Amino acid sequence: MNSVRLSHPLRSVGIASALALTLTAALPASAALSAPGAVAPNAAVVYEAESAAISKGQVDSNHAGFTGTGFVNYDNTTGSYVEWTVNASQAGPATLALRFANGTAVNRPMDITVNGTKVATAKAFPGTGAWTTWQTTTLAVTLKAGANTIRATATTADGGPNVDHLSIDAAPDPGGPGQPAGTPAGINGRLKVEGTKLVNKYGKPIQLRGMSSHGTQWYGQCLTTGSLHALATDWRADVLRVSTYVQEGGYETDPRKYTDLVHRMIEEATARGLYVIVDWHQLTPGDPNYNLARAKTFFTEIAQRHRNKTNLLYEIANEPNGVTWAKIKSYAEQLIPVIRQQDPLTPVLVGTRAWSSLGVSDGSTENEIVSNPVNATNIMYTFHFYAASHKDEYFNVFSRAADKLPLFVTEFGTQNAAGEGANDFNNAQRYLDLMAAKKISWTNWNYSDDHRSGAVFTPGTCNTDTSWAGTSRLKPAGVWVRDRIRTADDFPTS
Ligand code: GCU
Repeated sequence: MNSVRLSHPLRSVGIASALALTLTAALPASAALSAPGAVAPNAAVVYEAESAAISKGQVDSNHAGFTGTGFVNYDNTTGSYVEWTVNASQAGPATLALRFANGTAVNRPMDITVNGTKVATAKAFPGTGAWTTWQTTTLAVTLKAGANTIRATATTADGGPNVDHLSIDAAPDPGGPGQPAGTPAGINGRLKVEGTKLVNKYGKPIQLRGMSSHGTQWYGQCLTTGSLHALATDWRADVLRVSTYVQEGGYETDPRKYTDLVHRMIEEATARGLYVIVDWHQLTPGDPNYNLARAKTFFTEIAQRHRNKTNLLYEIANEPNGVTWAKIKSYAEQLIPVIRQQDPLTPVLVGTRAWSSLGVSDGSTENEIVSNPVNATNIMYTFHFYAASHKDEYFNVFSRAADKLPLFVTEFGTQNAAGEGANDFNNAQRYLDLMAAKKISWTNWNYSDDHRSGAVFTPGTCNTDTSWAGTSRLKPAGVWVRDRIRTADDFPTS
């Protein structure tokens, strides 16, 4: 028999609306820190079209404003193309910019391929107003180390526009320059999933430990420069999970506001060398497909803006519930390619069936995932546990699953499944020991002053915005988990 998860800890936050200061209001203007993680990309390298391989086209110079010695005038025929060979010093994301002019009023779409793979279908090259008016259009791609071929092929009988050049902005070193030295993100750089492990830029498995926020629509006031400073320096956390609820008064009520809040949190965490889990906190309804269109919009913007950062993880479905694994998998397989088009390298975390219990709360097990995994690389699956509710059955599935699947515990509590009631520190410690041994990363629920026992601060702490460090404002669960985050990290660098 399964002990079905009763209710989620984040539910029914009656007091929340009374506390609903927005994050923007809670942060002084000076909190808008500069973000060392957002390093300027390397200078763009320009590849002239007149020096590239041309099929069905000619080099002209009769329309002013071009760079180099001319531009390519595509023949007015489908299939005419220009192909550049470019050199990348390392594999990674890059932005292609094509400079073109189209003196007609009609779009001249082109397919763009990188190393023979189509990365854009019928990309628009609309009229620019005149043959002497040059514009650029950009595209995010991934390059391999060494030589890469980039081809722009006309898809209509008008042929391509006139093309002046291709320029390429390489993203910064995926090792993560710009992160404060000595910080978790500075030491480990860009993470990736290898086998069942999360590995750092040296290819070594690491464990991240940190805190999840509460719903930002309710507890944005707990995420201030002071509280994040304490999290990074007093708690010595490695990672912050930013929980953007979709419903329950969250994202769907004001997408601009909640997306901007995430941007801010990413910059704040990046400035402190923390990893950030961007948590798309779907919960009610439990089928993540309900929010697929919203998720595409949200993650497209987040990934586009932050793709050069090396300290992110995208959690695309917090706790699917009342929905089959097949539907969760289908959701992930529709959303991940959209994210990867903007940001091909950031790991993605996928929620599992029945409140991210690996299916256990629905009477299933990890086998439904093992036998039918999400068709994508560089992903992990999430497991959530609440120690006073989730005993041996959950523990055993989790332990076994960790040897077969890459897992990240993006939520756990020392309380019951609703995040309240008595703490079971013994059972929680058993999970923590297992996670340390298997290098499974975790974030604890939650860094707020909600009245429940699982919110680490005593009620009212976030309103004063002063006593973040130390233990004076912590509940017992807060003292306990702070002690377990503060212990020395083990981050291999060779
Ligand atoms: C004009 C123009 C060319 C351009 C061509 C086209 O001939 O001068 O530069 O390539 O139109 O329609 O493609």
